[in-house]
Amino acid sequence: MTGSWLAFWDRPHAIYVNARHKDVHYRLIAEQIAALAPSPRARVLDYGCGEALHAEIVAAACGEILLCDGAPSVRAGLAARFAGDGKIRVLAPEAVALLPQNSLDLIVLHSVAQYLSTADLQALLATFRRLMAPAGFLVVSDIIPPQLSAAADVTALLRFAAQNGFLPAAVGGLARTLFSDYRRLRARYGLTHYGEADMLRLLAAGGFTSERAAKNIGHNQARMAFVARPR
Ligand SMILES: C[S@@+](CC[C@H](N)C(=O)[O-])C[C@H]1O[C@@H](n2cnc3c(N)ncnc32)[C@H](O)[C@@H]1O
Repeated sequence: MTGSWLAFWDRPHAIYVNARHKDVHYRLIAEQIAALAPSPRARVLDYGCGEALHAEIVAAACGEILLCDGAPSVRAGLAARFAGDGKIRVLAPEAVALLPQNSLDLIVLHSVAQYLSTADLQALLATFRRLMAPAGFLVVSDIIPPQLSAAADVTALLRFAAQNGFLPAAVGGLARTLFSDYRRLRARYGLTHYGEADMLRLLAAGGFTSERAAKNIGHNQARMAFVARPR
């Protein structure tokens, strides 16, 4: 499952309905991650960061932002975009695993867990636990609860589009999605869903004390976010 989804993200796709959608999406996420930065010196990891178009917003709020994505083409785009920014580093997952123990103050895993098997998420949590500074914290967000339907994602996207001036493009984009690889993969492999108690248990097993956050990161408040601290 994980490999198939990663191959999807490594190819050109039409998840963002137009440039405005992509821009406001990444701006919102960057602003919300920046707001989480625990100090201006903090070392932050955004794991499964995607194109992270506005990582400079996070960089301005912390000491260093490490951008990691499993898709090589996504990393190449990030490396080109942020080549001149000394506070932004682009890393492959293998390089993240080799970072020094206890060296990260904030780790964000946003909108990634649904594309991983539970075993892969558990392995990732073990890596995060090792890398996390004692006073640091992990945010796992955009978790899809079991009962949440694809229709709820559609509603959230249309609301976000209406608020940000790309509603006609969103309607067209949704129609295209019906015939897309994303829909085929979602039907074939599914997305991994977690209830609140499941995620709290998984984080506890990974060595974290955690709680559900009042708000999710990003535009979809039907999905959940969790804040986890090393135990
Ligand atoms: C839905 S996108 C989320 C991107 C970004 N976090 C955001 O919210 O806009 C999922 C991202 O996770 C990355 N990803 C998926 N599986 C991964 C894995 N096993 N390791 C690292 N990155 C992965 C994909 O390449 C893709 O860029």
